[in-house]
Amino acid sequence: MRTLIVYYSRTGTTATVARALANRLDADIREISCDRYAGGIFRYLLAGYDSVRGNLPEIEMAQFAAEQYDIVLVGTPIWTSHPALPVRSFLHRKPDLPVRVAVFLTHGGHSPPQTCIDELAELLPVPVEAKLTFNSAQVAAGKFSDDVGDFAAELEKRSAK
Ligand SMILES: Cc1cc2nc3c(=O)[nH]c(=O)nc-3n(C[C@H](O)[C@H](O)[C@H](O)COP(=O)(O)O)c2cc1C
Repeated sequence: MRTLIVYYSRTGTTATVARALANRLDADIREISCDRYAGGIFRYLLAGYDSVRGNLPEIEMAQFAAEQYDIVLVGTPIWTSHPALPVRSFLHRKPDLPVRVAVFLTHGGHSPPQTCIDELAELLPVPVEAKLTFNSAQVAAGKFSDDVGDFAAELEKRSAK
């Protein structure tokens, strides 16, 4: 299964999961960068302000060739119940994506992930095949390897069908 992982991470939690998935699936990885929200408390507040208003920021990301992959895993933190704005910017560009799409999310545990998953599904051109969610405390405690392994195995099983 030729896998591409595209993710955004402001403080490293989603990046940790992205790297674990990439290792497990031998995947290529592309990070969405966004200078606007890099930094301390002021940038955190700005991210929240923009997120509520849906102000889509400028982003940067190395290019990829969608046809080289069977599946893309899109990873995002939850911001004010939405996908993080840099991921919303990426998807609003209507990027060319592989035919299969799965998502992974990290969150602080104070909003149910389903709203964010539904919004990702609306922005994506194909149905979301699978989803994986983590509380950031779980990631910080290093308790995510089993779930990453199960998720990867499920995707590979579907690939083999
Ligand atoms: C602007 C902003 C808004 C957030 N809103 C939520 C939220 O609505 N619900 C939640 O559970 N966590 C929320 N969080 C917490 C992040 O989802 C959580 O810390 C995540 O794991 C951070 O991922 P990262 O380290 O990859 O950036 C928010 C974080 C930020 C920066």
